[in-house]
This record gives sequence, structure tokens and C-alpha cells, in this order.
Amino acid sequence: MIGGKYQKLDADENRKAHKSKSLKTLAISIGLGLVVAYAVISVLIIEVKGRQALKTPEEWRELIKEHGYERQETDARSPCPMLNTLANHGFIARSGRHIKSDDLFKAMMLMGAPPTVTAGFLKKVYRDYHEADPQRSFFSQFSSMETLDLDRLTVAGLLEHDVSLSRNDLRLPPYSTVDPIPDYVHRMHKIAQVANKGTEFEGIFTRKNENDARRIRWLESYSHNKYIHLSLFHQFASSTECSLLLDIIGRDGAITLPHLTSFLLNQTFPDDWHPRETSYSFKELATKPLRCWKGLRDSTATLELLDQLEH
Ligand code: HEM
Ligand SMILES: *[C@@H]1O[C@H](CO)[C@@H](O)[C@H](O)[C@H]1NC(C)=O
Repeated sequence: MIGGKYQKLDADENRKAHKSKSLKTLAISIGLGLVVAYAVISVLIIEVKGRQALKTPEEWRELIKEHGYERQETDARSPCPMLNTLANHGFIARSGRHIKSDDLFKAMMLMGAPPTVTAGFLKKVYRDYHEADPQRSFFSQFSSMETLDLDRLTVAGLLEHDVSLSRNDLRLPPYSTVDPIPDYVHRMHKIAQVANKGTEFEGIFTRKNENDARRIRWLESYSHNKYIHLSLFHQFASSTECSLLLDIIGRDGAITLPHLTSFLLNQTFPDDWHPRETSYSFKELATKPLRCWKGLRDSTATLELLDQLEH
């Protein structure tokens, strides 16, 4: 008898528990739904906003007329050829100082960078380069900085890394990654000239050439720089920079030799260049850096090739 009463109570409890559980599930579903909807709408807004900044070649030619090359010795510059070029032409502050995330975003969109990825990347950059101020509260260090000076990008271990194409490792002369090393850019030319002679790629620097150039830079850093460090993360970052060079500055894995010099060495927009007319897509992001990465692993270039090029 008593057992039966308890059984009924148990059943009541069960029903109540079940009801509140399904209410909870419903609330969680609605909450998740809202979060997903918010994320989708945010991405759409960023993707649309990013595409609005794209220019046709004609629009670019008009725009660049009001953005001539001008560079002062006192200007702050970075290890990034693209950011330096944008600053040299006043698409971001020519001084290279006090640059807001939004200004960088706009300049990136003008170049055809992928909108959502760039927005996320810049969020991280403005957080990661924010230094803890010993005079401020402990928690203040976790906020983002308001503005960026380009020379801050030379801080090692964040984005800046060894084995760059156009800069020397920070621990090797000139102990600065701001200025390109002319010999490295000339070498890239030679690699392309020798490898592509008599082919359809004559006068062009290809992904294969980049892979060989980077391989040689890696080999020489590995044998001459006791303090070399290229973490797995930075190996992938290098592969992404390979694609930035060949698919955003260049197109479809190729860049002409004069354009290569203009961007990497002179850090100026060539007269006969115009930015991409469509944003770098998610599909490109998923495939092109990987092709750079695989090409570097597969490259058979050696330091002997370097000797041959120099003689
Ligand atoms: C359209 C967008 C961009 C393009 C086409 C681009 C292109 C490049 C290329 C080709 C390199 C390699 C240079 C070399 O190996 O010598 C590079 C390096 C670098 N970039 Fe950019 N970049 C872009 C956006 C950015 C942004 C938004 C930032 C940071 C705010 C940035 C920061 C850097 C840094 C710190 C390096 C040096 C890495 C190293 O040590 O080699 N770049 N970039
Ligand atoms: C780079 O600058 C040098 C010296 O100012 C100039 O002679 C050369 O034509 C420039 N090359 C390119 C491709 O912009």
C-alpha cells in the first residue's frame, strides 16, 4: 500500500522534472538559435561591407591619382610590405602611427582581403599587441588597444617571424625587420628567371618559385642563425603570406617580376597594377596557403642552387 503511494509521488515528481527539463531544452534552443542568427547576420554585414570597398580597375586608377607615393625618414614602418605600401600611399596614416582597426580594415577591403577573416584577425591583432601597463589595473591588459603603430609589428613572436622572404631574421644584421634586404628580392628574381626561362612563365614569379625562395631562406637561416625559430604556427603563417603575395598582391599564384620588386623592395603601387575585383574567398583561404605549405615541403631547392645563381 505504502509503496503504491510513493510510486504515485515519484510519477508526479518525474512529470514535473520532465516538464522543466523540456522547458530548459527549449530555452537553450532559443538561446543558441539567437546566437547563431546573430553570428550569421554579423558575418553577412561584414561580407557586404567588405565588398563595397572593392574597386574596378578604372575606379582604382582615379583613386591612386590622389594617393601618390610619399615617404619621410621619421615614418613608422612594419615588416609587412603591404601595410608599408598602403602607408606610403596614404591609404592608412602616412606616419604609420595611431592607426585605428577600422582604418586598417578599410584598406584591407580595398585590397580584396577576405572580410570576415580580416575582421577577426584585426580583433586578435589589436588584442595581442596591447601591452600590459604596470600603472594600470591588472584586468586592463585584457582589453584591446585603440590604435596601432606599424613599428610595433616588429615585436618578435607574435606575427613577426624568422625566415621571411624579404627581411632578415631579427637576430641577424641589420637587426631590424622593417627594411627589405635588396639581395633577397634580387635572388627571387634570379630563381624565377632561371627556372622559367623559355616557359610560359618567363618574367613571372610563381608559387613554385616562392616555395624554392622560401626553402633557401629557411636552409640558410637554419645553418647560419643559431637563434632561428620558426614554430609550426609561423610555418603556416609563412604559407599564408605566400598566398597573400601571390593571390592578393599577385593573381592566381603568380606576380610579374616588376610588380614583385615594386611591392617587396620599393613598397610602392606599380602604375600598371590594380587590386582584386573580388574578395579573396573562403575557398581560396582553404586551399591556397596549403598549396604554398605543401610546395615548401616538396621543394628540392638547396643552398648549392644559391651558389649557382650568384655565379
Ligand atoms: C591585403 C593584406 C595583406 C597582404 C597582401 C600582406 C602581405 C604580406 C606579405 C607578402 C608578407 C611576407 C613578407 C616577407 O616574407 O618578406 C607579409 C608579412 C607580414 N605581414 Fe602582411 N599582408 C597583409 C595584411 C597584414 C595585416 C593586416 C597585418 C597586421 C596588422 C600584417 C602584418 C604582417 C607582419 C607582421 C608580417 C611579417 C611576418 C614576417 O616576419 O615575415 N599584414 N605580409
Ligand atoms: C624601384 O626603385 C628604384 C630606385 O628608386 C627604381 O630605379 C626602380 O625603377 C623601381 N622599380 C620598381 C619596379 O618600382
